[in-house]
Amino acid sequence: MSQGRTLLVVVALSGIITASEALKCNCTNCEKSGYECETDGACMASTSYIKGQKQHVRICIPRESLIPPGQPIYCLSAEGVLNTHCCYTDYCNSVDLQVPSGVLDSNSWRPVELAAVIAGPVFLVCLVLIVGVLLFQYHQRAYNHRQRLDVEDPSCDHLYLAKDKTLQDLIFDLSTSGSGSGLPLFVQRTVARTIVLQEIIGKGRFGEVWRGRWRGGDVAVKIFSSREERSWFREAEIYQTIMLRHENILGFIAADNKDNGTWTQLWLVSDYHEHGSLFDYLNHYSVTIEGMIKIALSAASGLAHLHMEILGTQGKPGIAHRDLKSKNILVKKNGTCAIADLGLAVRHESATDTIDIAPNQRVGTKRYMAPEVLDETINMKHFDSFKCADIYALGLVYWEIARRCNAGGVHEEYQLPYYDLVPSDPSIEEMRKVVCDQRLRPNVPNWWQSYEALRVMGKIMRECWYANGAARLTALRIKKTLSQLSVEEDVKI
Ligand SMILES: *[C@@H]1O[C@H](CO)[C@@H](O)[C@H](O)[C@H]1NC(C)=O
Repeated sequence: MSQGRTLLVVVALSGIITASEALKCNCTNCEKSGYECETDGACMASTSYIKGQKQHVRICIPRESLIPPGQPIYCLSAEGVLNTHCCYTDYCNSVDLQVPSGVLDSNSWRPVELAAVIAGPVFLVCLVLIVGVLLFQYHQRAYNHRQRLDVEDPSCDHLYLAKDKTLQDLIFDLSTSGSGSGLPLFVQRTVARTIVLQEIIGKGRFGEVWRGRWRGGDVAVKIFSSREERSWFREAEIYQTIMLRHENILGFIAADNKDNGTWTQLWLVSDYHEHGSLFDYLNHYSVTIEGMIKIALSAASGLAHLHMEILGTQGKPGIAHRDLKSKNILVKKNGTCAIADLGLAVRHESATDTIDIAPNQRVGTKRYMAPEVLDETINMKHFDSFKCADIYALGLVYWEIARRCNAGGVHEEYQLPYYDLVPSDPSIEEMRKVVCDQRLRPNVPNWWQSYEALRVMGKIMRECWYANGAARLTALRIKKTLSQLSVEEDVKI
């Protein structure tokens, strides 16, 4: 083991010293340059195994990122999750690594068991010895590892990430040269473990949201209680969907599960937006016509990106949110917004035309549930049904925004949709009566007709609220209509 490592270091060093020309590596996401890249550093191949899905990534790592020298952060493996291999000769990363099994793949033990039975006690003794040695090593490594990662002293940061790198640099690196879906697991972990929590900014059904500091910048940290491990995993998984990053979708930074022996702390780190949710924002402020268009257009852009399926190896699956509401949309400094809380989202696997998890019938917030969700007539085999339900909810959010629009000095107080028809925290039954049986929708006041922007918003809402999901507008259509409106109204985005 240590011999191997020494050898690697020697090879690494000689590689660095003698390399006068660029090293060529295989690159899984360099479509343009024929799946190849050149570097002054190392070639890297990694295989991760997340919830039954194997992902191979091959990339170039620039020399400046090979820190610390002996064991660059980009080249570390994680037991049972990630197997990473860095090397220093042309195309040396053209290997298909296996993720060390045993942790995840219980089937692979079967033959061993069989052999043990056949070979009898002698073999058993050997096995016990081997397992003992392995366990000992594993513990030592895990222990050393924790020791290293638990160091929260910022002066030790240089061991893992170049000192002057800010979060923005790190994310920029990744969106240009990395795996396209997020930071490598170990970098995520290192970032998460050097965040200093500052104040609690929200509570939800899953746990708490905190504001934290990392290298002089603010980040939001969603801390899940250990009971909610599945929600944590699912949300992290969705956020790391390849090509998901978009200015109108909350920027994901890192997921980490800190195990301190007795309990597990589950963190999800994302960009921080000081204005908080659209719900809070509308409660505090009214908006101008321009402000309304900006919020509505950016929300539609975010949702359109989420819904859109991009084909190709670097493509993205269609994603439906399933819990869209003003509390799950964040307002950014520049007055646009970002869609957050992807924990209930479902992805469409277009190859098999299936949905990636078994969608349970009625999740999300009752007040925002589409009529077909309330009366359970939604066709759950059909991915588009979920998109249509999102659009219905978007229409309700638009109604919340438009009421707060200050046109000609008039605006209404903030209210939740259906505030006048159902009690607070309504039951499904109460919602169903109003939305399905009585076919009622939020009121669109007549005076909105006198202002072009409000007239357009009112029209969009009505077309989002049709009882028949298939008749509703698409996010892309709404985005186009609002872009046009923003040009007419001379809105600077
Ligand atoms: C790596 O690149 C070489 C040269 O372009 C190519 O022949 C080989 O098939 C690639 N390997 C993989 C696994 O893509």
